[in-house]
Amino acid sequence: MANSSKEDFEPDFIVTNCACSSTCKPRVSNYNSYHSEPVSASNDNEDCESWDFQDIPKHLTDEEKVKLEKDNTLVTEFKQRKLELEAEKNWDLFYKRNTTKFFKDRHWTKREFIDLVRENKQFNGTVFEVGCGVGNFMFPLMEEDPSLNFIACDFSKRAVQFVKEHPQYDAERCTVFHCDATKDNLASHILPNSVDMATMIFVLSAIHPDKMVDVLKNVFQVLKPGGHLLFRDYGLYDYAMLRFAPGHKLEENFYVRQDGTRAYYFSKEKLESLVTAAGYDVKELQYVHRETVNKKEGLCVPRIFVQGKFTKHSVQDQVEHK
Ligand SMILES: C[S@@+](CC[C@H](N)C(=O)[O-])C[C@H]1O[C@@H](n2cnc3c(N)ncnc32)[C@H](O)[C@@H]1O
Repeated sequence: MANSSKEDFEPDFIVTNCACSSTCKPRVSNYNSYHSEPVSASNDNEDCESWDFQDIPKHLTDEEKVKLEKDNTLVTEFKQRKLELEAEKNWDLFYKRNTTKFFKDRHWTKREFIDLVRENKQFNGTVFEVGCGVGNFMFPLMEEDPSLNFIACDFSKRAVQFVKEHPQYDAERCTVFHCDATKDNLASHILPNSVDMATMIFVLSAIHPDKMVDVLKNVFQVLKPGGHLLFRDYGLYDYAMLRFAPGHKLEENFYVRQDGTRAYYFSKEKLESLVTAAGYDVKELQYVHRETVNKKEGLCVPRIFVQGKFTKHSVQDQVEHK
């Protein structure tokens, strides 16, 4: 199967060599709890993008509405079953083709998940990253905060191996294992009620919608009471969703890329219903709008994500609610 293009994923993958002039200044910022400082205009490690925390869904143009309405032929059940059976293989092939070069380090997490890097205060705990890929989320955070320990897992054995071979991998501070979060009991790797924080960054979208609640429950059991799940993923009507040509739709808001990996595009309502069904309390849930500027390609790409903080209530909360 052909490679997916970088635009099929998210901005970390498509921004190149932006000179960060006026186009890369923050625009609207009515977003408080995740957001600390805007992107530094001179930091070329950051995503060079305009950013906008307006918590509103994306409105479709008439042309976009027509395109989505016309795209109503679903991939056959036979092919859909095959994609589900081969999901692990397809992600592994993705990392075979792209090695560690596809995703950029996710330096935006520090400014948006402020819980992870509290001002002048170390977090001093264990973070469990589900679907860690090659470690683009965890390694920048481990470098930033020496008090952080990571447990991480991924579906792709190659990705897990890349994490282990990473120059910053430190067996004293991180553990990584292979698993299928839809099937394997995470509590057989991690003590129940033990991790301070869990993260799912562009992972739930890769999982079949029928299995999403089970995956969220799987994570819930290893989270400490009072612990949070930090979440970021594709939002409904994201640019990548609108780019799919006919023949890629699996079901409502769920598509297959050229390389056989799949992507779901979440509305806030859908995500809220999934996480509450899995037992979490929704503390924060927002749409995040991004405008990625790629000067080299002359591209200005509007993206939309959903970002949230979901909590496993503590025993104390349960008593108080009685
Ligand atoms: C888009 S990548 C994101 C990787 C990483 N979170 C990051 O932000 O760089 C999605 C990841 O989810 C993993 N994944 C997909 N389905 C999974 C499953 N059932 N169990 C565990 N990991 C899974 C894939 O192997 C892939 O590494």
